[in-house]
Amino acid sequence: MNPILVRPADMVRITTPALADKYIESQISALREQIGDKKVLLALSGGVDSSVVAALLIKAVGRQLVCVHVNHGLLRKGEPEQVIKVFRDEMNADLIYVDATDRFLDKLAGVTDPEQKRKIIGGEFIEVFAEEARKLDGIEFLAQGTIWPDILESEAGIKAHHNAGGLPEDMKFELVEPVRILFKDEVRMVGKALGLPDNMVFRQPFPGPGLGVRCPGAITRDRLEAVRESDAILREEFAKNGLEGKVWQYFTVVPDFKSTGVKDGKRTFDWPCIIRAINTTDVMEVTVEHLSPELMDHLVKRIITEVPGINRVLYDFTPKPPATVEYE
Ligand code: XMP
Repeated sequence: MNPILVRPADMVRITTPALADKYIESQISALREQIGDKKVLLALSGGVDSSVVAALLIKAVGRQLVCVHVNHGLLRKGEPEQVIKVFRDEMNADLIYVDATDRFLDKLAGVTDPEQKRKIIGGEFIEVFAEEARKLDGIEFLAQGTIWPDILESEAGIKAHHNAGGLPEDMKFELVEPVRILFKDEVRMVGKALGLPDNMVFRQPFPGPGLGVRCPGAITRDRLEAVRESDAILREEFAKNGLEGKVWQYFTVVPDFKSTGVKDGKRTFDWPCIIRAINTTDVMEVTVEHLSPELMDHLVKRIITEVPGINRVLYDFTPKPPATVEYE
């Protein structure tokens, strides 16, 4: 049986656990038929799509799936640890973890242009992944978290379908795309039915270049840590205050300038931390989430006391347009 490449016009939207289970059952047999006793490789970022693909494949072919999790040093606090815990420890996946932080940050040192930064991160990612793939024997398939909107958008010429390709010419694999015909909400439904944790299944969008676009200009390790720590505080407080899953996207940015402050009677010269929290349906236009004064005060207090290098907290009230969601 060939995998279904096009979403059937009469396909019922997966909106219930029962429909999700039915989809999972049908995919398990389709995947087993397509893959046989061969091996499949997957770049597992820990995002919703690749996580659901991993969970489906683990159910279908177990350790014939080899997952590679590349830590480019620009992931959020606790992300690589969660990927290892969920997939290697709990699901018994064959998971290769590559900490390539130094490699990425060394290449990015001194690079200020946003597009150049994106190119370096994307290019280096493919290189690291290809290097790992070359070390493995007998891989015939490459799994990808392509979803139906990716196909629709690339057909409409809105964006290149970035999932397929990128690997060197000599590395040819047959593609396995078990969520290809699903919309995002359906992928989440399937992920939940597969038992993935809620904070993985319902997580907010996170850009491929990660925290790199939230550390504007040349990335330095200390400023990157300030972004990571302040982001972790923001996420923790949003979860505590019932905003997780309600606000579309929220994060912090630490720009590359310093201002004067005072701490314990001494002058400081440190970075500001900008909080951004937005709502949207299509990310073409976004509105700003207004936080309660109590939460705002609490966030300011935590960030200035817990994050080294920050002496000021700002809130971004700008909608899109004219501002984009990310700062780069
Ligand atoms: P902007 O900043 O363009 O963001 O208003 C719109 C949405 O896209 C995400 N975004 C990215 N996602 N790679 C990604 O995978 C990227 O380079 C990238 N840039 C922005 C952003 O987080 C927001 O959800």
